[in-house]
Amino acid sequence: MLVKPQIRGNICLNAHPVGLAKMMETFKRRTMASRGAMVGAASLSQKKLPKTVLVLGCSMGYGLASRMTAAFGCGADTVGVSFENEPTHKRPASPGWYNNRSFDFLAKSEGLYSVTLNADAFADETRNRVIELAKRDNLVFDQVIYSLASPVRTDPKTGIMYRSAIKPIGKPFIGKTIDLVTYEFHELTVQPATTEEIEATVKVMGGEDWELWIRALGEAGVLAPDCITLAYSYIGPEHSWPIYRDGTIGRAKTHLEETAHRIDESLRTSGGHAYVSINKALVTRSSAVIPVIPLYISALYRIMKEMHLHEDCTDQMIRLYRDRLLAPYIPLDGENRIRMDDWEMRDDVQKLTATQMIYATEANLMLTTDILGFKTDFLQANGFDVPGVDYHARVQYD
Ligand SMILES: NC(=O)c1ccc[n+]([C@@H]2O[C@H](COP(=O)([O-])OP(=O)(O)OC[C@H]3O[C@@H](n4cnc5c(N)ncnc54)[C@H](O)[C@@H]3O)[C@@H](O)[C@H]2O)c1
Repeated sequence: MLVKPQIRGNICLNAHPVGLAKMMETFKRRTMASRGAMVGAASLSQKKLPKTVLVLGCSMGYGLASRMTAAFGCGADTVGVSFENEPTHKRPASPGWYNNRSFDFLAKSEGLYSVTLNADAFADETRNRVIELAKRDNLVFDQVIYSLASPVRTDPKTGIMYRSAIKPIGKPFIGKTIDLVTYEFHELTVQPATTEEIEATVKVMGGEDWELWIRALGEAGVLAPDCITLAYSYIGPEHSWPIYRDGTIGRAKTHLEETAHRIDESLRTSGGHAYVSINKALVTRSSAVIPVIPLYISALYRIMKEMHLHEDCTDQMIRLYRDRLLAPYIPLDGENRIRMDDWEMRDDVQKLTATQMIYATEANLMLTTDILGFKTDFLQANGFDVPGVDYHARVQYD
C-alpha cells in the first residue's frame, strides 16, 4: 500500500512517521554541525550558551528549529510545549506529535534533558505543570521561546474561546493563491474583518499569553535573572500588507511587539530581555493557508536560491543564535526588533521577487517560481517526499 499525502485546501491532513523521523535526524545533524560556531561566537562575545530553554510551540516550524538549535547547537536542556493530535492505530498523529517523540529520543541519546508536554499552552494548568516540573527538576530557564501559531485560544480567566482570522481590515482583499495539488491559480476575495474578529485575533496571536507565561515563571522563581525571551513575527513586502501586516494578524503582531517592550522593562532590572524576532517567510503549517503567501514564497524561494541566500527554519535559527543572540551586542532595528528577514527584505531580492510574481501564470509557474521547492517543503513538513523513505512499506502510526 502506498501511503500518500491527503491535501485539502493547502492543508495536509495526514503525516508519515518514518519520513518525519528522517527529517528530524537531518535537523539534528545540521544543528549539531553548528556547535563549533556557537561555542566560538560565545567565547568571542564572552556570553554564556543557553543552558535551560523553554520552547512554547516546540513541535513544528520555527519553534522546532529553535529547540533543535538550542539543544544540539548549544547543548541546552529543553522543555517543550505543543498541542498535537495523538495517533490511533488507524489514524496518524499530527506531524508535530512525531517530531516531539523523535526530539525526546534524539536529545536523550545525546545526554540532554528533554521533556515535552502535549498540552494547551494557553491554559493556566499548563503553566502550572511547567512550573512544577521546573521546581521538581531544579530547572531555571535562561531562555523562553514563544513560537505559538494557533487558530483558537481560550482565555484562562473568562473561559471565553477566541478564534483568529486572517482577514484584511477596512476593505476586501483580492489576491491570487496557488492550489498545491493542481497548481491552478485561484483568485480569492477576502471580506474585511469585523471589530470582533480583529479583537479575537489579537487575543489569540497577540502578546497577552506570552506576558502571562513570563509573569508566572518569574513569580515562581524559575526564570534566570538574565533570562532572554523571544517571540516571532513577520512583516513581509508591502503588497502582502493588506492581508497580513495591515490585517487582523498584523494587529495581533503589533500587540505582540508592544508586549515585548513591556516584558523587556520587567526583565531588564535583573539583566534579562524580551525581543521580537522578525523571521523570514517560510513554508510551515501556518503559512501555506494565507492567501498570496504560496505565490510569494515560491517566487521568493526561486530568487533567494539563485542568489545563494535561501534559508529554511533551521538555517534561520542557527543564524539567530550564532549571529544575533550570541553576538557581543544583539543588533536591533529602531523598534527593538531582531531582523532575521534582512536577506528576504533586501531591495534586489524584493524587486526580482515582485517581477517573478507579476509574470507568473499557471502555464509558466515551474519556470517563474520555485513552486516545486515550496511543495517539497510543504510535503516534508508532514513526512512525505523525504529521500530514502519507502512509502510502499506498512507504517505503524503509534
Ligand atoms: N512561517 C512563517 O513564514 C513565519 C515567518 C515569520 C514569523 N512566523 C511566526 O513564527 C511563529 C511560529 O509559526 P510557525 O510558522 O513556525 O508555526 P507552526 O504552525 O509550524 O507551529 C506552531 C506551533 O504552535 C503549537 N501550538 C498551536 N496551538 C497551541 C496550543 N494551544 N498550545 C500549545 N502549542 C500550540 C503547535 O503545536 C506548533 O508547535 C508564529 O508566531 C508565526 O507568526 C512565521
